[in-house]
Amino acid sequence: MLIYRNNLELQNETLKLKKTGKSIGFVATMGALHQGHISLIEQARKENDIVIVSVFVNPLQFGPKEDFSKYPRPRESDENICKDHNVDILFLPEEDSFYLKDHKTYVTVEELSEIHCGKTRPGHFKGVTTVVLKLFNIVEPDRAYFGKKDFQQLVIIKKMVADLSLPIEVIGCPIVRDFDGIALSSRNKYLSPEERKTALAISQSLREAANRIASGEKSAKVVYDLIFEKLSNKENLKIDYIAIVDDYNLKTRENLDKNTVILIAAYVGSTRLIDNLHLEDIL
Ligand code: PAF
Repeated sequence: MLIYRNNLELQNETLKLKKTGKSIGFVATMGALHQGHISLIEQARKENDIVIVSVFVNPLQFGPKEDFSKYPRPRESDENICKDHNVDILFLPEEDSFYLKDHKTYVTVEELSEIHCGKTRPGHFKGVTTVVLKLFNIVEPDRAYFGKKDFQQLVIIKKMVADLSLPIEVIGCPIVRDFDGIALSSRNKYLSPEERKTALAISQSLREAANRIASGEKSAKVVYDLIFEKLSNKENLKIDYIAIVDDYNLKTRENLDKNTVILIAAYVGSTRLIDNLHLEDIL
């Protein structure tokens, strides 16, 4: 496995690879790799000649009061995971040279970036799209793999790629869950054992919703109320939002069909967790 730390050096390498006709699959991450990331790497491995993974904790997507400095950075284990899963190139940009000192250019997908998670985390998606576009320009992937756990992020990245005619196929991959149903996330590390038990209510509420919908429920309000009731009574859990929306434009839906997604964001203690249910996966 080759490791690159410098933007230009990697860009030169990917240009060379492209000339040989090899396809490039790309997995962008912020590290602290877990089974969710591994599933993206495995899918990229199956569908491409070359697999490139980036690990970069992107300062642009963190708000001033968020966890940028305490975000886990287990570099050695990240490297080993990539090696063990046959990654060809690991991109570990240097934190102080990835962006130019006088960086001034940002890309924003309007509207979609301001709702749901964007309301609670102003500027977050602007940071995500800016770093992802920059990484795309360095890596030049044919296919890029993102987890459906960050559903809004996936929708926004797909929109950016479509709007800007980037020659990249964006592939959304299934959420990977722990044995108890909790969606895997690098931020789960912040939870105490007690908080983890509380957090289970989020995936449980989605499972209950899935059962109701699978047995014929079509009303978004009924399903919203069911989830709200389950979560609003939980001690030490604060709902940020529950949204039942269209999977393309993220606008509120009244009737449920396979193009609907249920999004949840909630704080357990001080940790903000997100999860979702894409009805396409159950209908
Ligand atoms: O999903 C993430 O880990 C990040 O938002 C991403 C896509 C790597 C951009 O920093």
